[in-house]
Amino acid sequence: MSDDAATDQLTVVYGAEEVVVGPDDETGVEVLEDAAVAAVDGTVVAVGPTDDVLDEYPVEDADTVLDASGQTVLPGFVDPHTHAVFAGDRSDEFVAKLKGKTYEEILEAGGGILRTVEAVRTASKDDLVANLTEHLDAMLEHGTTTVEVKSGYGLDTETELKMLAAIDEAGADHPVDVIPTFMGAHAVPRGVDTDEYVEEVVSEQLPAVAEQGVAEFCDVFCERGVFTAEQSHRILEAGREYGLTPKIHADEFAAIGGTEVAADVGASSADHLLQTDAEGRETLVEGDVVPVMLPGTAFGLGAEYADARAFLDAGHEVALASDFNPNCFARSMGFVATLGSVGMRMTPREAIRSITSAAAKAVDRTDGTGTLRQGSPADLVVLDTPTATHLSYRFDTNPVSTVLKSGVVVNE
Ligand code: NIG
Ligand code: FE
Repeated sequence: MSDDAATDQLTVVYGAEEVVVGPDDETGVEVLEDAAVAAVDGTVVAVGPTDDVLDEYPVEDADTVLDASGQTVLPGFVDPHTHAVFAGDRSDEFVAKLKGKTYEEILEAGGGILRTVEAVRTASKDDLVANLTEHLDAMLEHGTTTVEVKSGYGLDTETELKMLAAIDEAGADHPVDVIPTFMGAHAVPRGVDTDEYVEEVVSEQLPAVAEQGVAEFCDVFCERGVFTAEQSHRILEAGREYGLTPKIHADEFAAIGGTEVAADVGASSADHLLQTDAEGRETLVEGDVVPVMLPGTAFGLGAEYADARAFLDAGHEVALASDFNPNCFARSMGFVATLGSVGMRMTPREAIRSITSAAAKAVDRTDGTGTLRQGSPADLVVLDTPTATHLSYRFDTNPVSTVLKSGVVVNE
């Protein structure tokens, strides 16, 4: 410890059956048994056998102490794709889908995203902050400590800025780290020509978003009937000129070139990938674009899952995200891990990597977020389970007992 011990905040979590420390190319993640984690001022300073860690960092000196006997410690979960700020209720569309309507039919008829747009345009910023805060609380309870949140239910400059301001405000007051993404190109507003709307996104929305200074990423729904590859390319390039890192929704219903766009513009991630073939996978790997898969969406739509194994078996990483939105009401990354395992044949340890260190890469977090090694942020999830395998294995109740953000207990 430093000489300035009086002001250092020491956190010690000890006696865990298992501690997941970070990625491992053979097994998914490296796991230590009967282990402890110590952190000073929110940064991990030691991870290892409990006896060794306690020798160096005795519990008597600690400000925060957790006996994790019988429990498992993981890095805080990173959810790299959500549309978590919205208003209104679309549960009736869930029923319509059960009766055979498709997602695309509902959107074409002015429902889906366009219905949420109406609700968000009339909601106040404070309403949006309150809604998002409630969802962040639920995410934190389920172990998420970092989450990306997109705008995209405004589809006009004023409402897109209102959404981003709400994301900023909710994030500032919440223990969960919130990463804002501008997604003015989420759909085409009713009655508007797509090319004209692309022009509006590029020459009106993007400059205003840059001026506001909240958004870090720019995302586009590159999809049949929404934005073409060419239009997506133009918007993401323009976003890049304003300092926004590109991301893309690609190959959800049809493969129309989104993976090529992702590689071309240097996107941090390409997301969905339900229809991606071997060539598309190669393009992403060559372009160093993180594939983000959203099994909750496939589950909710009753669709085939994306082919995670094709990436994993070739030695490449996959990230998983909740895609939490009115069409996919999933705020638990533990449930997403279960879907990754059951639906996509990921081992529990592969699934854990995909919601921790791989997910952190998808949102360009390179400071050790999603790992528990010396120097990592001390974001910890304690599971009330004897091993990490239980995260995918159990899908009834929430296995998370305690969450620490920057070394401080924020949920128990
Ligand atoms: O990623 N596909 C586009 N966007 C969201 C759905 C948003 C909505 O239906 O409201 C997604 O699944
Ligand atoms: Fe999405």
